[in-house]
Amino acid sequence: MNKMNNLEDYAIDYRKSVTEPEKFWAYQAERFVWRKKWDTVLEYDFEDYNVEWYKNGKLNITENCLDRHLLNRSDKTAIHWVPNDPKEQDRIFTYKQLHEEVSRFANVLKNNGVQKGDRVCLYMPMVPELAIAVLACARIGAIHSVVFGGFSADALAGRINDAEAKILLTANFGPRGSKKIGLKNIADEALENCPGIETAIVLQRTDDAVEMKAGRDKWWHEELEKVETFCEPEIMDSEDPLFILYTSGSTGKPKGVVHTTGGYMVYTAYTFRNVFQYQEDDIYWCTADIGWITGHSYIVYGPLLEGATSVMFEGVPTFPDAGRFWRIIDRLGVNTFYTAPTAIRALMAQGLEYVELYKLDSLKVLGTVGEPINREAWDWYHHHIGKNQCPIVDTWWQTETGGIMISPIAGVLPTKPTYATLPLPGIQPVLLDSEGNELKGNGVEGNLCIKFPWPSMIRTTWGDHERCKNTYFSTYKGYYFTGDGCRRDEDGYYRIMGRVDDVINVSGHRLGTAEVENAINMHEAVVESAVVGYPHDIKGQGIYAYVVCDAAKMEVSTMDDLKAEIAATVNEKIGPIARPDKIQIVRGLPKTRSGKIMRRILRKIAAGETSNFGDTSTLLDPSIVEAIKEGVVRDQ
Ligand code: PRX
Repeated sequence: MNKMNNLEDYAIDYRKSVTEPEKFWAYQAERFVWRKKWDTVLEYDFEDYNVEWYKNGKLNITENCLDRHLLNRSDKTAIHWVPNDPKEQDRIFTYKQLHEEVSRFANVLKNNGVQKGDRVCLYMPMVPELAIAVLACARIGAIHSVVFGGFSADALAGRINDAEAKILLTANFGPRGSKKIGLKNIADEALENCPGIETAIVLQRTDDAVEMKAGRDKWWHEELEKVETFCEPEIMDSEDPLFILYTSGSTGKPKGVVHTTGGYMVYTAYTFRNVFQYQEDDIYWCTADIGWITGHSYIVYGPLLEGATSVMFEGVPTFPDAGRFWRIIDRLGVNTFYTAPTAIRALMAQGLEYVELYKLDSLKVLGTVGEPINREAWDWYHHHIGKNQCPIVDTWWQTETGGIMISPIAGVLPTKPTYATLPLPGIQPVLLDSEGNELKGNGVEGNLCIKFPWPSMIRTTWGDHERCKNTYFSTYKGYYFTGDGCRRDEDGYYRIMGRVDDVINVSGHRLGTAEVENAINMHEAVVESAVVGYPHDIKGQGIYAYVVCDAAKMEVSTMDDLKAEIAATVNEKIGPIARPDKIQIVRGLPKTRSGKIMRRILRKIAAGETSNFGDTSTLLDPSIVEAIKEGVVRDQ
């Protein structure tokens, strides 16, 4: 069935999805417009990683997001945009208008030489033009690579060059809360190191002036004037790449996760419809940024594929005050609200007076994503926002999975605080011990893997298929390894315990410790560093950096100045999201005799534990640990 309405439906569909996966996913795909039907539903190989869904099927995803709705939903709101500044006007796009805008911008891209398969980098604020440009790329078969507007010039340049993008879409400024982010200035700095970029198209989001580089930079509004509204969709293969999205791993530089067209379409639509139990006239709001996978799958593609009204918000939860989310919910009559635990915790800390001003009686379903939700936040969300009436869907998934994997189905599957609960149909999770044995039965904890393909899974890492194979399919032969630890309780419900690798999750943003260390090490006085996550009340995890410096190379007078400089270096290399919360200057790092940093000890110290370090017999110099303990940074 396309939509599960009760527990029995779930049980039937889940069973079918395991016993007859091809039949199950063929049925789910049939509701879409295919220019040519697929030959086979699934071909795969988890050893030498390769997976193909709906092989030789031909389609265009925007035809399914837009054209398909023109008959019955042409005047229905597709995107309702709420600006950062509440004094500014909302902007509403019906399906008909969105179809026109996407087609026009698709023609702008074509006019600027963009062809099928070319990479387009987007470095934009959360404005409708971002969603329009994403869809415009898909319309002409160009591969979009959205880079979150909070990344630095260096991070942006790295992503542009890795993807070999030939065009950059940006805006003069991006308003966020009381600040304005100088996107164009940052982009200018990045483009000094991006020889492949021929053109930058710049949206005039604010009245502020910016410099335009002759021959390279063009104004968005002027480009639009040069083109027609009609744009025939490019016919794509089901396995043609739809987008690249960079994400951090435990090693090396961020990797470009590649998603393709047909499977991603079927799975994002299926999960959107089912997890949120979406109904035709619902107003749906996901507060993520389109710079992350949540925004791709559940602001743009999933909702539009289902003909939903998707709210898009430019601002932050606390501007102009901590009641902003709740005011928007009442004003727009939002029925489904999907946000991150970090936002819930931040708003919880502001007190109930900001909540009590609002009715919130339009809400039917609440969702969370991005990091484990603690019990206190879950209860607060359930009680004060959902008024004990709204199921909370705690959705576990990843950039690589493309769509929600383990989650309650609103009102259909029972919820359990802090649990992502059960796998969706088509998802076969297993828990493995460190030797790679599947842990059978309930009441077990292990490394979360998936043992069968699903339609929206990662296809490759851009330009480096070996890396994809090594990262996800080689830890445990024959399984996709998620990097998460997980518990299956006595009832068979899944609870995500957090990363088991060197990835930290700060406010729902994934950062590799190696990536942050590399940035810290760029400071000229730094000899080496080790970065770990530690429990943080609002962010979930904070970043704790242990840094060894060369006194001879320090050009600052105080330790505080040095720390500020190190933090600024991280800002410059990655962006403010990677800025360490705590920096401790240490004389050495605890290493084993073979030179490996004992991160386990550093994690414990950062979490405030000063004993129970486990086996420390391999430590080269135990006195270093004592010294670190003494100098530990409590709160900054
Ligand atoms: O550790 C898990 C955590 O976020 C990681 C994926 O991060 P990213 O690719 O940036 O995607 C975030 C949005 C889908 C996972 O490996 N994570 C995500 N959702 C949850 C979660 N941890 C616990 N509960 C969740 N619901």
